[in-house]
Amino acid sequence: MVTRPAPVVAVRFDGGALRALDQTLLPWEERELVLDSAAAVAEAIKRLAIRGAPLIGVAAAYAVVVELQRDPTEAALDRARQVLREARPTAANLAYAVDRVHGAATGQNQLATAALEEAQAIEAEELEASDKMAAAGAELLSGARRLLTHCNTGALAAPGRGTALAVIAELAAREGIETVFATESRPLLQGARLTVWELRRLELPHALIVDSAAAGLIAAGGVDAVVVGCDRVAANGDVANKVGTYGLALAAREARIPFVVTGPTSTIDAGCRSGSEITIEERDPEEVRGAASAQLTISDTSCRNPAFDVTPARMVTALVTERGIARPVDGPTVRAVVGGP
Ligand code: MRU
Repeated sequence: MVTRPAPVVAVRFDGGALRALDQTLLPWEERELVLDSAAAVAEAIKRLAIRGAPLIGVAAAYAVVVELQRDPTEAALDRARQVLREARPTAANLAYAVDRVHGAATGQNQLATAALEEAQAIEAEELEASDKMAAAGAELLSGARRLLTHCNTGALAAPGRGTALAVIAELAAREGIETVFATESRPLLQGARLTVWELRRLELPHALIVDSAAAGLIAAGGVDAVVVGCDRVAANGDVANKVGTYGLALAAREARIPFVVTGPTSTIDAGCRSGSEITIEERDPEEVRGAASAQLTISDTSCRNPAFDVTPARMVTALVTERGIARPVDGPTVRAVVGGP
C-alpha cells in the first residue's frame, strides 16, 4: 500500500502557543517552532520561517491571541498590533488580519477570547477561499497542461491548499497535467526548496528551472499558462508579488499565453490606488550574496534585494479570487470581486 504524506499544516494554534513549520529549514529538515509571544511570531515572519501572504496574516492573527493570553490588557493588544504590522510591509494580509483581530478584541471584557474567535474566523475564511480559488482557477485554465509558477503558493503559503498551487493541483486532479515548471525564486529559493517539496508530496509531475530560463521556455512555446500568487493587489488591479513576477508577465504577454494571478480578497487593498503606492520590501543584501549557505560573490559586493515587484493590471489575464474572477483586471472588476457574493 502506498502511504501518502499527511496534508501540510504550516501553522497551528495549540491553545497556548503558535506552532509553525520552520520554512527556512525545508526541504532538508521538518522542524516545528513553538512561538509564545507576538514578538517571537513577528521575528519568525521577518526571517521567513513563516511566509506567504495569507499565511502570515493567519499567523499574526493568532499571535495577537498568544500575547493577550500572557497579558490581557488593551496596552498589550496595541503593542502586539504594532510589532506584527511592522514585521513585513508588502503583503496586505498581515495588516488586514492583525487589524481585524485588534478591532474585534478592543473594548471587550475577555480580550483573548474575542481575539481568538476572530483569528479562527479568519483562518476558516482563508481555508474556504483556498478551495474556491482552486475550483475557479482550474475551470478557467481547463486544457492547460504545462503550467509555470513562481515562488511558493501552496499549503506552506496559505491555509488549506494555497493559492496558485491549489489551482494547479486541482487542474491536475480534474484533467491531468503534463508538468509544472517551478522557478527557483532567488534569492531565498522558495521555488527550489518549498514548491518542489510540495509538488513531490502532491505527486505532481514537475521540473525545476532557474529563474532566467523562464522567458526562453515561454518564448519557445513550452508553457501553456503562467499561474502565480499575489502579496498585495491595488484597487486598480496592479499586483505585487515575488520579485521576478513582472518578467514572467512580460514573457507571457509576448507569447500570448495566459498570465493568471490567484489570491484571496484579503490580499486586495482597496485603499491603495495603484501599484506605485505599494511598499516593496527591501531585504538584507546578504541574501543575494549567498544561497543555501554557499557564498556566491565577493563578501562586500554591493547588492540590491527587492523581495517583490509590481505587475501592471493590464498584463494580468485574470485575477482569481474566492469571490469570483476579475477579467479583464481593472478598477471596476476588482471592485466587483471585493463586493462579490
Ligand atoms: O517572501 P515570501 O516567500 O513571503 O513571498 C511569497 C510570495 O510572493 C507568494 O507568491 C505570495 O505570498 C502569494 S501566495 C500565497
